Amino acid sequence: MNKVFVPPIKIQGIKTKLVPLIKENIKLDKNTVWVEPFMGSGVVGFNVCAEQAVFADINPHIIQFYQQIKNKQIDGYIVRQFLEENGQLLSQKGQDFYYEIRNRFNENHSSLDFLFLNRSCFNGMIRFNKDYKFNVPYGHKDQRFAKAYITKIVNQVKYVEECLHNFDWHFYCQSFEKTIQQINENSFIYCDPPYIGRHIDYYDSWNEDLEIKLKEILLKSKVKFMLSTWDKNIYRTNDCVQKIWGFCNKITQQHFYHIGAKEKNRNSIIEALMTNYEKIPLFNHSPIYQQHVLFS
Ligand SMILES: C[S@@+](CC[C@H](N)C(=O)[O-])C[C@H]1O[C@@H](n2cnc3c(N)ncnc32)[C@H](O)[C@@H]1O
Repeated sequence: MNKVFVPPIKIQGIKTKLVPLIKENIKLDKNTVWVEPFMGSGVVGFNVCAEQAVFADINPHIIQFYQQIKNKQIDGYIVRQFLEENGQLLSQKGQDFYYEIRNRFNENHSSLDFLFLNRSCFNGMIRFNKDYKFNVPYGHKDQRFAKAYITKIVNQVKYVEECLHNFDWHFYCQSFEKTIQQINENSFIYCDPPYIGRHIDYYDSWNEDLEIKLKEILLKSKVKFMLSTWDKNIYRTNDCVQKIWGFCNKITQQHFYHIGAKEKNRNSIIEALMTNYEKIPLFNHSPIYQQHVLFS
């Protein structure tokens, strides 16, 4: 029941580990429209499974990928064929083939090439330079697209297909301002903007002015919202939590990550969920997401 679905496109800052905490602390009913202006991988909304949802992001390649699944230009069968064919070429030619696909993607912007790159690049990252060229290096796994790995990705695509068949979901390539301005009063907004000062992607630049603008637009919308941010790590505290989001309720969770392979290089960060509503008592958690279990 509580298994977290991992989507086909990965991104740095993916909130897979926070999904259970987020689901426990959101307030939705059957008529709520889930609005996610910073979609990224979409892992949060894809697990909440609201009947109506708006997913938006400023990165056109993420949106095009899901739009093409929605339009049935891409499905599990097409993905399997593509990855089998191109995965075999990768296993024969190695990194030369990866860079061939990267050049091809930067010319043609094919969603299938985007998926291929995202799943074979270094650390499953998305990074574009100032000329809008995808520039993540090769992950150096020539045998990356083994049969089981392809099946895993195909099942991830099929899960999204199933959601799009059952639910009324929309994808837009646009800035957060436009997405939030378009909402209606039945919306719940989940925001996961890039962390200030940590961006590495051209589509991911973020600063304090933008965070203040986000706060103002959210307040103007007058609907319930939740924002993901970081609270502190062993070196620093995120001043914006108090300065910008001090009026919110704060829910925190410690998250451990590794720098390199050694166990002793384990670091922790406190992740924060800021909400403009009271913490939900444990006995009253919103069950909407438990109505729709697509794959167990
Ligand atoms: C931290 S990621 C979101 C991660 C996502 N919650 C997940 O779990 O995968 C931030 C996303 O915001 C998008 N973004 C950055 N600036 C934006 C803006 N001004 N408007 C809309 N989206 C933006 C980036 O392209 C990126 O996909």
